[in-house]
Amino acid sequence: MNFTGRQKVEVQGVFRLLSFVSLGLIFAVIIVGAFVSARGQGLSCSDWPLCPTGFSLSLGGEHFIEYVHRIIALIGAISVYVTTIYAIKRFVKARTAATITSIAVSFQIAIGMLVVLSELQPLIVAVHTGVGVLTLALALLTFILSYPVITGHPDSN
Ligand code: HEM
Repeated sequence: MNFTGRQKVEVQGVFRLLSFVSLGLIFAVIIVGAFVSARGQGLSCSDWPLCPTGFSLSLGGEHFIEYVHRIIALIGAISVYVTTIYAIKRFVKARTAATITSIAVSFQIAIGMLVVLSELQPLIVAVHTGVGVLTLALALLTFILSYPVITGHPDSN
């Protein structure tokens, strides 16, 4: 597909917005995950994907914070997939990074399920934390790729 200069700028802008939203959502899931953990609430929602009492989304309800973690994870994953589809179709430069981010986020959701079903087995919790950070790094790399490459040092010209 051949883009004009103006179309290129538009595509870059859309991609930058999508990858930024994904980055922000992954960051938010990590913060909420740390909050769940620090409050010792990791075990209180012992089923997957819903908590044992079903949807209790009232503010401050029994499983509210766990649901916030899971729902932002779901929306974040959808955002990463949309970013990847857009990269594959229109922003080829970032398609490898975006695709790897999609794989990492899918893997992370599967590990999240194992965290719950294993009743917080320490090794699985550690992997969940590590892959969460890795997913953030990949989402950041994808976002950075929305900027033009700067070649050479300005002083070297
Ligand atoms: C994008 C997806 C996700 C990311 C980036 C993410 C990241 C994190 C992080 C960083 C923590 C804090 C760990 C700690 O400080 O000890 C955490 C905790 C937790 N996450 Fe996730 N998470 C994701 C999805 C999920 C999903 C889908 C589930 C389950 C359905 C889940 C279940 C949990 C649980 C139960 C904890 C608390 C563990 C504890 O109490 O030690 N996570 N998550």
